Parts: sequence; structure tokens; C-alpha cells
Amino acid sequence: MRKKIVAGNWKMNKSFPDAEELIAEIADKLESMDTFHQDVILCPPYVYLEMATDIAEDSVFSVGAQNMNENDTGAYTGEISGSMLASMDVEYCIIGHSERRKNYGEDHTLLAKKVNAALRNNIRPIFCCGEVLAEREAGRHFEVVRNQLDESLFHLTDEQFEQVVIAYEPVWAIGTGINATPMLAQEMHAYIRKLITLKYGETLASETSILYGGSCNASNARELFSQPDVDGGLIGGASLKADEFVKIVTSF
Ligand code: PGA
Repeated sequence: MRKKIVAGNWKMNKSFPDAEELIAEIADKLESMDTFHQDVILCPPYVYLEMATDIAEDSVFSVGAQNMNENDTGAYTGEISGSMLASMDVEYCIIGHSERRKNYGEDHTLLAKKVNAALRNNIRPIFCCGEVLAEREAGRHFEVVRNQLDESLFHLTDEQFEQVVIAYEPVWAIGTGINATPMLAQEMHAYIRKLITLKYGETLASETSILYGGSCNASNARELFSQPDVDGGLIGGASLKADEFVKIVTSF
């Protein structure tokens, strides 16, 4: 059965002491819960990853990075590689977030290389896809998402693809307070699963976790996660408060 996952994307937020407090608080709250069927992933900024993996050793959550370089080592000042992340027990990496596509010009080709780099270092990509508002208004949202998957993900072998988590994040919903309705989310998630079925077959498609992201919070998570093809969420703003984030984690 495919996994239910809630991942927190902290983006560029929190001081070191505040980050440590938030992670410890989330770990405490998760520990006090009896049953635990969902995977929780925290993706703090690079510089807090070691602290996060230290706390994660005695907790139920996993740690992810928010980005990585497509090369494993070398003269790339300021960059962080998948091999470096793997050496710090980081298990996941967000790849293709719309903020990186837009602000840092990350295109399909580069993202395919990043996905490859993650996998060759045993890091599981959380691959983001999603359309901007103008594309949805023009009725091009399915085509845009299909293209993103085709160009950066569908070159993978079955064994590689098994490691991938997909996050559908309509760009117009990110940080705006306007989430996709559960119906719209379900429609796109079902479409993505259909594309995976066509490419990799029914078994792999049914085992792939597809997360929803974009203004998902403690008030709307339950309805979104109750959709048959929505397997959890990639949470931005609402992952920065322990109470709210843990409520989302338990919204299945
Ligand atoms: P948001 O961000 O939850 O703040 O909308 C989600 C994301 O960018 O992953």
C-alpha cells in the first residue's frame, strides 16, 4: 500500500535556536501519539539539517533538504550536493519547487539531472509539479503538468521511479491562502496517477505517493487528504508552527 506522507517545507525561515525548538516540539508531539501510520518529513534549511537528523535519530520523522546541486562534488562555490546530504543521513530532497523554477531558472533538463543525482546518492526526490494561474485559466494545466513529468521524471527506470514522491503544487495556491478545492486537487492527482500508469504500469502507479501542496493547513487538510488520490501534503507556511503541523499530520 502506498504511504501517507506529510512533509514540511520550511523554505528560508527560522533562526537556529527557533528551528531547534520547533523540531524538538514537533518530535515531542509526534512521540505522544499512539498510532502512527503516516510518514513525516521535515525539510529545514541546509544549515539546520545536521541538528534535524540528530533529533530524528530518536524520533519518528525523516529529514529532507529543499534543494541540491546536480553534481556530486567539485568547484561549485556555495552549492550542496546529494552525496553531502547522504553523508548526513538526509533521506529526501525537494526537487523542482516552483520557487526554484521561477527565481533560479531551474528548467526541465536541470531538474532531470537533479533527480538523477538524488537517486544515485540514495536520496528520495520529492518532485514538485504544478501550473501557474495563467496556464490554468487557459485550460493548459494538464498539459503543463504532463510536460513537467515527461521531461524531468519519466526517463527513470521502474526501480528508480519507485523511490520518487510527487507533490502537485498549483503555483497560484502557494503562499496565497487560496488552496485548490479538494475536487480540483483530486482531478489533477488522478490525472498524474493515470500518467504514471501509462508509463510504469498499474502496480507502480498505485504505490506512488502523490502529495498536495499550496495553502494546505489544519483547517483544510482533512478534506484534501480524504480524496482518493491525495496521499498527504507538502506544507509551507503551516509547517512553521508545531501545533498546526501536527494537526495536519493527523488529518487522515
Ligand atoms: P504553502 O507552501 O503551504 O505556504 O502554500 C507550500 C509549498 O511551497 O511547498
